[in-house]
Amino acid sequence: MQIATTIQQVREYLADVRKRGRRVGLVPTMGALHAGHVSLIDAAVKQTDCAVVSIFVNPTQFAPSEDLDKYPCDLEADSRICQRAGAALVFAPSAGEMYPAGGSMTWVNVEGLTDGLCGSSRPGHFRGVTTVCAKLFNIVSPDVAFFGQKDAQQAIVIKRMVADLNIPLEIAICPTVRADDGLAMSSRNRFLSPAERSDAVLLFKALRKCRELILAGTDDCGDLIRQMRDILGRSAVIEPEYINIVDAETLDDVDRARGRILVALAVTVGTTRLIDNILLDLNETQPTI
Ligand code: PAJ
Repeated sequence: MQIATTIQQVREYLADVRKRGRRVGLVPTMGALHAGHVSLIDAAVKQTDCAVVSIFVNPTQFAPSEDLDKYPCDLEADSRICQRAGAALVFAPSAGEMYPAGGSMTWVNVEGLTDGLCGSSRPGHFRGVTTVCAKLFNIVSPDVAFFGQKDAQQAIVIKRMVADLNIPLEIAICPTVRADDGLAMSSRNRFLSPAERSDAVLLFKALRKCRELILAGTDDCGDLIRQMRDILGRSAVIEPEYINIVDAETLDDVDRARGRILVALAVTVGTTRLIDNILLDLNETQPTI
């Protein structure tokens, strides 16, 4: 496995790969890799001939008040994980390599889809995500890029950007990887105290309850949201930010649970912000999480 820190190194490495007619897969990450990231690398290794993992804590997607400085960073440990998973190349640029001369005057902004859910409390966040992903797509020119369902709104926004800008690549969305008790893997889970960690399982319990209620025939979203709020309310340290049931394509709120819907929530547990979601296709007879 090779490690590149400059755009030039990535382009040189991949020119050779392409000459040999190999398909390239890209897994964009911010490092602090866990089993969720590894599932994306596994998919890239399986579905393409050359899996590239980018590791870059992208400053433009963090607001000044957010946890950029606190974001865990261990390139050596992350590289070992990438190597074990079978990645061919790690791209770990500096902020100066990605944003020379202090920043970007050009932004890629997906309108509408970025207003609600996480967009409401994190203005500018998705503009940073789409801009850095557009840059990574231009640097790597992957055939397929792999994203996690865990960040459902991000995945939908990226898909829309790629379609709107005619970027010639496929976006693959991989299922959310969870701990044994159901908590979605996240780089931020390490900030939870033992008591917070045990309460954090309520996020998944609330989503699972919602799924059960829908399968049992409840379709009133107001009612479903109230029941999820009650479950989260069992913890004194969980503060809900949003609990929404939205159309899985437009991300517009729906009143009735029908068709393809996304049940999405964001909370703070102590000082740690966590998100989770389930995608339900109620056109299918047996919807799965
Ligand atoms: P990061 O939070 O490091 O996540 C990188 C990728 O891993 C994302 O596609 C995310 O959805 C996926 N992922 C995280 N936890 C997961 C889990 N439990 N199961 C499955 N996939 C999971 O998301 C970002 O970085 C950044 O915004 C990025 C896209 C790299 C742009 O900077």
